[in-house]
Amino acid sequence: MTKRNTTLGEFIIENQDSFQYSSGELSKLINAIRLAAKVVNHEVNKAGLIDILGAAGDTNIQGEEQQKLDVFAHDKFIQTLTNREIVCGIASEEEDDFISINSNDERHQNKYVVLIDPLDGSSNIDVNVSVGTIFSVYRRVTPIGTPVTLEDFLQPGNKQVAAGYVVYGTSTMLVYTTGDGVNGFTLNPALGTFYLSHPDMKFPETGKIYSVNEGNYVHFHQGIKDYIKYCQQEEDDRPYTSRYIGSLVSDFHRNMIKGGIYMYPKTKITQSGKLRLLYECNPMAFIAEQANGIAIGGKTRIMDIEPTELHQRVPFFCGSRKMVEKLQEFLEKYQ
Ligand code: AHG
Ligand code: MN
Ligand code: MN
Repeated sequence: MTKRNTTLGEFIIENQDSFQYSSGELSKLINAIRLAAKVVNHEVNKAGLIDILGAAGDTNIQGEEQQKLDVFAHDKFIQTLTNREIVCGIASEEEDDFISINSNDERHQNKYVVLIDPLDGSSNIDVNVSVGTIFSVYRRVTPIGTPVTLEDFLQPGNKQVAAGYVVYGTSTMLVYTTGDGVNGFTLNPALGTFYLSHPDMKFPETGKIYSVNEGNYVHFHQGIKDYIKYCQQEEDDRPYTSRYIGSLVSDFHRNMIKGGIYMYPKTKITQSGKLRLLYECNPMAFIAEQANGIAIGGKTRIMDIEPTELHQRVPFFCGSRKMVEKLQEFLEKYQ
């Protein structure tokens, strides 16, 4: 039984053997993410003090304006993972193509690829509201020692070996799973150490929070509109409370602790929704399911979707089991 004041470093070592493919490589990978998270955290915390705010003047592949911290976080995670030669490939929301890492050292024949949303909720940076980082880890499918290909990245979420997020909030937390439950670690900024603060995290079976950008209401399909009205009805334990930060990581984190449902539906305008399957939905779905929650894209389980492109978007509904099941009933009426 892990003690509550266990550090993340100790936890990684203690739990290394429980991971079925354990060779220490995944532990090194989580350690590298821990390090990059601390560096990004430092930068996020001083964002209001220095001239790092504002757009970098560039747009990413999805045509969205990039903020300087997006670029910084992307660079830090890529550098940390590349310099330590612990993965064979990385794909980032902020870069059009994947990066292949060819190690010159025969001993470093790495088998993992990482997909990352380096800074999630970037529209919140300038206004001092919580942002995050999301990561997802797969074993490569092409032979070890050869350059990675697109095939290594386009794997369904059910093939993930690890996933997690960092939330840079009122305190900074790293939450992750390797398929054996979900654990959350809080950073003690004075010591620069993450401590196990939330062991074995679970979504409550049901909750009273619904999170959706209701500004898009007129564009939603009828099933979603009806479900939102259901959330607002005065009956049983309703009306529910509406909470929407606009950072998936923060909205998800709150809902996992308090019980709730997060929705980013497709609309009559955006046929596939906004969130990215590989960088956002799959890792959050893996964490959700490991925490007794559900994540669907409509009819299908998010983690069973076969990806067709790196920056693919899908509708996303995720949260407490009973709430997502209720939503499903509404969606089925119109299918
Ligand atoms: P990112 O900052 O990585 O582009 O992600 C933003 C995402 C997600 O974090 C959030 O839940 C959603 O976009 C908010 O979208 P709306 O502003 O359309 O509600
Ligand atoms: Mn994002
Ligand atoms: Mn992002």
